[in-house]
Amino acid sequence: MAFEYLLPQTHLLFGEGVLSRLGEEVKKIGKHALLVTGKKSMQSLGFLDEAIKSMEKEKIKVTHYGKVEPNPTVDIVDEGARVALQEGCDVIVGMGGGSAMDTAKAIAVVAGHSKKSPCSIWDFSVTQDTPKPITKDTLPIVAITSTSGTGSHVTKYAVITNSKTMEKPGFGSEHIYPLLSIVDLNIVKNMSPELTARTGFDTLAHVLEAFVSKRSNPISDEYCLKAIELVYKYLPIAYQEGNNMQARFYMALADTYAGWAITTVSTALPHGMAHPVSGHYPNIDHGVALAALSPGIMEFNIDNGDEKTIYKYCKIAEVMGKSVNEYNRENARKSVQAVWELLEKINLKVKLGELGVNKNEISAMTKNVFRTMRKNVNFNPVPASEKDVEEIYQRCF
Ligand code: NZQ
Ligand code: MN
Repeated sequence: MAFEYLLPQTHLLFGEGVLSRLGEEVKKIGKHALLVTGKKSMQSLGFLDEAIKSMEKEKIKVTHYGKVEPNPTVDIVDEGARVALQEGCDVIVGMGGGSAMDTAKAIAVVAGHSKKSPCSIWDFSVTQDTPKPITKDTLPIVAITSTSGTGSHVTKYAVITNSKTMEKPGFGSEHIYPLLSIVDLNIVKNMSPELTARTGFDTLAHVLEAFVSKRSNPISDEYCLKAIELVYKYLPIAYQEGNNMQARFYMALADTYAGWAITTVSTALPHGMAHPVSGHYPNIDHGVALAALSPGIMEFNIDNGDEKTIYKYCKIAEVMGKSVNEYNRENARKSVQAVWELLEKINLKVKLGELGVNKNEISAMTKNVFRTMRKNVNFNPVPASEKDVEEIYQRCF
C-alpha cells in the first residue's frame, strides 16, 4: 500500500488558559492583526477583550472585524478583506467557531491576492470554469477555536456560502493552514448543550467519513478510530455537564484529531450532501444537517459496500462499544445503531422535514452536490449517482 501524508505546519497551543499566549506568539508572525469574530459570543464572554489585550501588550496593532454569522458568506469575506487592506493588516486572526475561523482564512486569501489585483473569494471557488489558484500570497493565519468542532483550527479548508447561488463549497489549499492554532478549554466550555451537541456531532461525522473514505490511510485511520471512541464516550458527558473539563478536553482533542484526518483524507458523501442543505437553508446549522443525513448515508454505504467498507463499519461499531464477533454486513449495521443511540443521548435525532427542508428542493440540492462537492462524492466508499443522492435525501425526510 502506498499513501501520501502532508504534515501541516501548525503550531498548536492546547489547554486551559492558553489564550494568554496569543500576543507573544502573534508577535513572531505580524505587527497588525485583523481580529475576525462573530457578532456576540466572544464579546459577551470577555474573550475578545482578552485577545486584544494580549496582542496590544506585545505592541501588536489590532483591528476588530466582528460581522461573521453562521454559514459565513462571500460578501462578509470580501468586505473583511477590504478592511484588512485599508488598515494594512499583515496577519489575520480568526476567533470563534468554524464560521469565524473560515472567514479569517478566506479573508487572508482575498487580502493577500488583492495586493496584485483586486479579487473576491468567489474567484477561487470550484464553481468557476478556471478557479483562481490560492498561492503563498495568502496572508498568515491564526485560528482560535471556540467550538469542538469543525477542526478548522488545523485544516486547510474554509467553507464559504454564496447567498445568491445558494452554493456552499469548500476552499482548500495548504496555504490556508493556520500558522498558529489555539484551543483554550476555558473558551469551549462556554458552549451551550445544544451547541456542544451540534459541533460534537460534526467532529464525529468527520471521522466516520474519513475512516471509510477512498483516500483513507493508516495514519488517518488511527486518528479516526481514536476520535470516534472519544466522541462516543465524552460527547454525552460534555452535553450533560458543560463544566466537566475532562469531557471538554477529550472533545477538543477529538476535534483536533478529526481535523488532522480530514485535512489529508477529506470528508465524503454526508458533508457533500450537508453543505447544499445549509446553502439552500442558511439557518440550518452544519452539524444539524449532518445529524439528519449521516445515518441514512451510512445505511446506503453498508447496503452497497464492498468487503473493505463492511470491515470498516464493523470497526466503527466496535469502537462504539458494540460486540462484533465477525466482520459482516449485519454487524456493520450496528455502527448505524450506535450513531442513532448517540444522537438520542444528545437530543439530535432530526429529520430534514422537521428542519423545514422542502421536498421540492431535492432536485436542486442534488445538482448542487455534483456542482460544488463532487470530490466528496468521489471519495465516498460507494459510488453514488444523482439518482442515489436524490433517494438518500428522500429517505432522510
Ligand atoms: O457568532 P457568535 O456570536 O460568535 O456565536 C456563535 C454562533 O452563533 C456561537 N458560539 C461559538 N462558540 C461559542 C459560541 N457560543 C457560546 N460559547 C462558545 N464558545 O455558536 C454559533 C455557531 O458558530 P459557528 O462558528 O457557525 O459553528 P461551528 O463551529 O459549528 O462552525 C460551522 C461552520 O464551519 C464549517 C461549516 O460548514 C460551517 O460553516 N466547517 C468548516 C470546516 C473546515 N474549515 O475545515 C470543516 C467542517 O466540516 C465545516 O464544514
Ligand atoms: Mn464538518
